[in-house]
Parts: sequence; structure tokens; C-alpha cells
Amino acid sequence: MGMSTHPLIKATSRGATFLRPGRLALSAFALAVLSACGPDEPVGPGQVGDDGGELDARLSTLLAAHRLDGRIEEQLEVKLGRSVDERLAEVGRLLFFDRVLSLTEDNSCAGCHGPNVSFNDAVSISIGVDNNLIVGENRQGPHNLRRAPSVVNAAFFPRLMWDGRFEALSLDPFDNSDGFVFPPPEGTSLSRLDHLLAGQAFTPVVSRIEMAGFDFVGDAGDIRSEIATRVDAIPEYRERFAEVYPAIDAGDPIDYDRIAAALAEFQFTLVRADAPVDWYARGDTSALTASQKRGGILFFGFRAACFECHITEGYANQMFSDFKSHNLAVPQIRPVTTNADFDGPGDNEDFGFEHVSGDPGDRYKFRTQPLRNVAYQPQFMHNGAYVCLEDAVRHHTDVFTSLDNYSNTILPTSLRGPMGPVQPMLDRVHGLSAVPRELTDDDIDDLVAFMHALSDPDAHPDRLASLIPAEVPSGLPLQDFDFNSSSPSCN
Ligand code: HEC
Ligand code: HEC
Repeated sequence: MGMSTHPLIKATSRGATFLRPGRLALSAFALAVLSACGPDEPVGPGQVGDDGGELDARLSTLLAAHRLDGRIEEQLEVKLGRSVDERLAEVGRLLFFDRVLSLTEDNSCAGCHGPNVSFNDAVSISIGVDNNLIVGENRQGPHNLRRAPSVVNAAFFPRLMWDGRFEALSLDPFDNSDGFVFPPPEGTSLSRLDHLLAGQAFTPVVSRIEMAGFDFVGDAGDIRSEIATRVDAIPEYRERFAEVYPAIDAGDPIDYDRIAAALAEFQFTLVRADAPVDWYARGDTSALTASQKRGGILFFGFRAACFECHITEGYANQMFSDFKSHNLAVPQIRPVTTNADFDGPGDNEDFGFEHVSGDPGDRYKFRTQPLRNVAYQPQFMHNGAYVCLEDAVRHHTDVFTSLDNYSNTILPTSLRGPMGPVQPMLDRVHGLSAVPRELTDDDIDDLVAFMHALSDPDAHPDRLASLIPAEVPSGLPLQDFDFNSSSPSCN
């Protein structure tokens, strides 16, 4: 990653967009609701835990205040303005798993977004080219810079990547009318595409460290042309694309725009946003345990204050993220062997959103991570510094203790390089992290339980295994997806 700046972010008043009146009004509304029923008071098990009625009254009021109605999944085709094209999605699925998209033929999208880990990364920091073709904890090769987040539900994200650098200016990924902004060289040139995910699909294939490798001579455009030529030379892809696009049927070559559209279409089929919290929001009070209900009340209350960043209303599409970047002072781990450019004097830091804005004040900021299906992840945070969900939650509630206790020995040896400094991060840590929250161990248990309530059972790896094709049109063998690795025995 270069230190490229992102002129449009600075030139427009994005902060003002996010603080638009609707959100302020809602906060005021939420405040009124909160003071009316006092959910900021402790709700430990001994107090109201047995009184399901009171928990339900408080939680359902909070969910309504935060516009969580449990119906976002059915919004996909409404927002798309059409049905998902099953034939195009099927080509996209094959391409997602096909190593033909990698000029070195040793990686695919699924190599870093594996179905065996709910389309997350199998390792804490991605391994791109020069890997051993395993997708699991035994994946080996030089590490890149960050962890690959899940592509499940990414269709609803108005900003993509850990620093939000791919952005729909309308704050609606289905709406390109205000433009899609990418860092140079793409800039706003991908705004012609129908969805932000189609724009995103232009980028991994040209990354030398992720999929392209270092041998091919040419720029990003040359790489995409070469990939399109290779795909076009495979009869099954030509047949499948011809069924969707009359121009290809009439003889046009497959171009990268069509490849990207197919990859996006496949990802539309990866929406999994029907979790117990949604069943509850739709009226099934038995969908959550008492602990999950207490956790939800904490999450949306001021004592834990998770809702300050993990928002559900408006442009957040009920994804539990404000899609803004914040500095939480996450431990800066460093691979022993990397082919990426780390930051700082020790070459062991990641300056995060500063790369996008060019503003040193944005150093160490990363995008608030959407939380649906988080419990299925093998690692947490932008660099997978944590391997237990509870530790990721505790990092938020007491960053000082968390950093004091942190040891990279919880990670595989390949990620135990010299860690980056802590103090520069703490010097500019987000205000909400600057003071530890007063939460008990029971509160933390409840918050973790609530995280589990955000898991759609259909996003579990076992239910995604059937998406792995038996074979792909290039004839290249599939990678080895290890369904037995991951999920350490923490929480
Ligand atoms: C070498 C590993 C690797 C490969 C291969 C890869 N990705 Fe990713 N992907 C990542 C990483 C790492 C990120 C986050 C990068 C960042 O934030 O800087 C990411 C981010 C994404 C996101 C954004 C998700 C979000 O929450 O914002 C999408 C969508 C995505 N990738 C789709 C794809 C597609 C489609 C392909 C294949 C064309 C692909 N990826 C190939 C590693 C990979
Ligand atoms: C100040 C904004 C903010 C607040 C408040 C906040 N978070 Fe986060 N959260 C983030 C950001 C930013 C990340 C990603 C940080 C990174 O990777 O560097 C994150 C990551 C997470 C993750 C890991 C997600 C993943 O995919 O790796 C979990 C779990 C989480 N938050 C839960 C919570 C809970 C529970 C609370 C309340 C106790 C909370 N958060 C409060 C901003 C916030």
C-alpha cells in the first residue's frame, strides 16, 4: 500500500454528511427513550435477569429506536431494483473459486475469503501469492498487511475495506449516481458500474501481492486485459456469459466489466442477515436468551456504548457499523515474512485511514467493523490480533489492560515478528476508549452472548460448504479448504 492520498475525501465535508440532522434527531429520540426506561442502570442477572417481560420491553424499545426491524435481508432485491440473476451469479461463483483470476494461478478470491471460514480469512493477516494452496490454519507463504474481512453481507456496505477507501458517495452501495470513489489510479472511473462490489472486484486481481504476482509486465489495465483474455479463451465461460449477455453471444469478447459484474452478482447471493436478533425484532421474544437480551440492552445503552460506532439505522443498513474510521489502539502485529509495505520507523505499523485522508490525525484509524456473523470468525480486528471474540470485546471496554496483557504468542509463529509501538496509538486513541468502561465479567459475558445473537445460522461454514464447485471451467484444481481448522476453544 502506498501513502496515496484521497483528494475527494478531503475536498468534501464527509463529516457533515454523517452528522446530518436525521442522525442527530434519532440520537435525541434514543436519549428520550433511554431516560424514560433507564436502561443505563446495571442489568445484571440478579436484578432483572429473571424478569423476561422487563428485558423485552427495554430491548424492543431500543431496537425500534435504532431502526433494527429484522427485515434487511429482504431489502436486497428492493435496493437492487431487480431480481438477482442466477445465471450471472453462477458464473461469478465459478470465477470466485477459479485460480484463473490470479496471473500466478496460485490464488483465487476464495483463497482469502474461504467458505470454510464464512468467507473470512483463514489466517490473521492474508497470505496472497506464493502460497501452499491450503485455505485454513496451515496456509503458508509471505503475509500481506491485513486480514480479509468476510464478503458475506458486503452488498450492504457503503464503504469497503478496513479504511473505507472504496466508497459510494451516495452512502448507498446500490446507487452510483454520486459516484464511486477509489484511491488512484481508479479514482471515480468505476462509477459506471451498478454496484460498489463490482468496482471492488477490479482491485484484488491487479494487486501484485494478492493475486497478480511480480512477473507480469504491465499496469493494472494490462493485467485486467490479460485476465479477461484468459477467461475468454475458456469455452465454458464464453457459453455461460453468452447466456447472460447477448453481445457476448454475438461474438464480443468477455471484458473485465463483465467479470466484475459476475463476481458482484455472486456476492449478492451471499447475504446472510437473518439472525436471532432479527427474529426477535420481528416479534419472536423466545429467539434470544436472557443473557443475549441483557447484552443487547448493554450494547445499545450508554454504559457499554457500542451503538456509538456499531450503528444500525439509516445508511448502515442494519449492519452494525457507522462505516467511519476510529483508532481503537489495536495491538500492531507484524509477520515475520511479508511482501507488503508496513509503516513507521520499525516497519511494523499500519497507519490505517491516514493512507486515505493523508492526515496524520487519522493515523491508526480503521473502519468500524460490521458485526453480523462475527462469532463465526477465526480472528478479529483488522490484523486478526485477537483470536477470541471475548478478547476483542474486552479490548474495547478496557484498552489499557488489554494492551498490557497482550502477547502475540496466541498467534502462529509466522506472525510473531517485532510488534509495533503502543504509545503513539494510545496518544490519539478514540475518546470512548480513553476511559475504561465500568463493566463486570457478567456484563462482558452478556455482550459476547449478544454477539452470538447476530449470527445467521446460514452463514455457518457447514452451510456454505455446498458453494464450493466440484470443478471450475479453467480446469485448474481447487484449493484445499480445511473445515477442521479455526475456531479456537475460547468463546
Ligand atoms: C490475498 C488475499 C485476498 C484475495 C485473493 C482477495 N481478497 Fe478480498 N480482501 C482481502 C483483504 C486483506 C481485504 C481488506 C483489505 C484492506 O482493508 O486494506 C479484502 C477486502 C475485500 C472486500 C471488502 C469487504 C469489506 O468488509 O469491506 C471485498 C468485497 C472483497 N475483498 C472481495 C474480494 C474478491 C471479489 C476477490 C477476488 C477477485 C478478493 N476479494 C480477493 C484479501 C483478499
Ligand atoms: C469508537 C467506536 C467503537 C465503539 C464505541 C465500539 N466499537 Fe467495536 N469496533 C470499532 C472499530 C473501529 C473496530 C475495528 C478496529 C480495528 O480492527 O482496528 C471494531 C471492531 C469490533 C469487533 C471485531 C470485529 C471484527 O470483525 O474483527 C467487535 C467484536 C466489536 N467491535 C464489538 C464491539 C462491542 C461489543 C462494543 C461495545 C462494548 C464496541 N465494539 C464498541 C469501533 C467501535
